Amino acid sequence: MTIQPDVFPAADWAARVAALLAERLRTNPDLRVCLPTGDTPVPVYEAVVAMAAAGACSFERATVVLLDEWVGLPPGDPARCDTRLRAQLLDRLPVPPAAVHVIDADDPSPEAAAARHDEAARDLDLVVLGLGMNGHVGFNEPGSVPGSPTRVLPLSDASRDAARTRYGSGAVPTAGITIGLNRILAAREAWLLVTGPRKAEVLRLALREPEDPDCPASFLRRHTNLRVLVDEGAATLLGYAI
Ligand code: GLP
Repeated sequence: MTIQPDVFPAADWAARVAALLAERLRTNPDLRVCLPTGDTPVPVYEAVVAMAAAGACSFERATVVLLDEWVGLPPGDPARCDTRLRAQLLDRLPVPPAAVHVIDADDPSPEAAAARHDEAARDLDLVVLGLGMNGHVGFNEPGSVPGSPTRVLPLSDASRDAARTRYGSGAVPTAGITIGLNRILAAREAWLLVTGPRKAEVLRLALREPEDPDCPASFLRRHTNLRVLVDEGAATLLGYAI
């Protein structure tokens, strides 16, 4: 089956995705939602915060589960996914979510933290994902397969560079913890968010080439309820005009 993404003009993309999330929260106030960090969702969270401030959506009864986290960064490090999700969304909501599950990367046993987070990642209504330039989702790096569990894993150089150069981390983490592709594929709904022309080729690989562990996002096509929410720039190589 060929996945047809929802393609929105870049200027509207964040508002459209935020409106969809608000709609899910209205339909199911007890939504159990997994959220990513990275740059892609930042304008969506901005729009969601504005909607929440205006009373157009609420996380009051929702449970938020963080998608992934670096191991080895100190609490509060600007690159930490928990730091970013709190600063960009959670701490800006007028009413906080009923529950928030971040990943306890400070546990001396990252494996134990991953096991606990795997429990939190059960029974998700919606998992929202970004797309790495190397085809990763969460920290399911190349080599991941549909059965890959929530786990601690070594990070690719591309991911490590992001911590240092993009997010201003003081250290360079060598490992991460991610919700596994197995839990992502088991969520009732999955959204892949992709913006900008630099992601056009990896999005084409993920959606139009055969499944391949070198592009873990390609396995998302197995999800029976996947939405690919992209802007025009990311959609340019998908072979159809909007
Ligand atoms: C990061 C994170 C992912 C994120 C992805 C895309 O390394 N581990 O959770 O979705 O890469 O990031 P961006 O949206 O900044 O391109």
